[in-house]
Amino acid sequence: MGATQTKDVKWLCTNENLEAIILGLDPQPDDVVLAVCGSGDQAFAILEYVESVVAFDISTAQINFAIQRKRALGEGNYTRFLCLDELSGHSGQEVRSRKKYFLKEGRLERIRRKLDSLLFRVGDITNAFFGEATQYSKVYLSNILTDSDFLFNSPPRVLSAISANLSTGSLVYDPSGPPVLREETDLFITLPQNLEIEFELTHKARLNERSIYRYSPVVYIITS
Ligand SMILES: C[S@@+](CC[C@H](N)C(=O)[O-])C[C@H]1O[C@@H](n2cnc3c(N)ncnc32)[C@H](O)[C@@H]1O
Repeated sequence: MGATQTKDVKWLCTNENLEAIILGLDPQPDDVVLAVCGSGDQAFAILEYVESVVAFDISTAQINFAIQRKRALGEGNYTRFLCLDELSGHSGQEVRSRKKYFLKEGRLERIRRKLDSLLFRVGDITNAFFGEATQYSKVYLSNILTDSDFLFNSPPRVLSAISANLSTGSLVYDPSGPPVLREETDLFITLPQNLEIEFELTHKARLNERSIYRYSPVVYIITS
């Protein structure tokens, strides 16, 4: 894994809480999920529970990295999949929590059996829906709305594009949520008319998001 990894791979491991994401997204066996890729951790975690996942990233390097991890897991090489010897840039807490998550009770074997249902695409999430017939029931946004590396991801632009392309009842998981947006960017966002906060799932996700970054996730639901 290390030999083919490029300097452009920024994310080797998630810094978000995988349990919180699973509780908030409430994945079901018939869900078709669109997920920001990064390291791929979140897409692999979601895959365990759903019909299929399309993992997306604007960075080709991140997608190639996640494809290598998929290959390693397919070969049953859990050590390479977890890249444990390459995570020196990540905090001890996030490395431990993500290792504990993936090594729980046969989980990697369950994910491994579903790898054919994990696809990858390179592109901007706001364009991800265009020209595609796929109806996604859930969207996982990672923290693209608040990451200062990606200021072009203005919340109105991303949320409008997403909400215009999902059907009623679909869920959207945003790890950082509106309060963080207001505090850090002094920005009031007006949610698209058909997007509302799903309070019960938001509450479950927040109770479990214990990362050092103090994310306060929000789960949105499409209402029409
Ligand atoms: C926002 S970063 C944050 C990482 C995250 N906190 C984690 O735990 O993995 C996740 C990924 O989002 C990608 N990204 C940012 N803006 C994007 C966009 N508009 N469309 C698709 N991917 C995007 C970045 O390239 C990066 O790999």
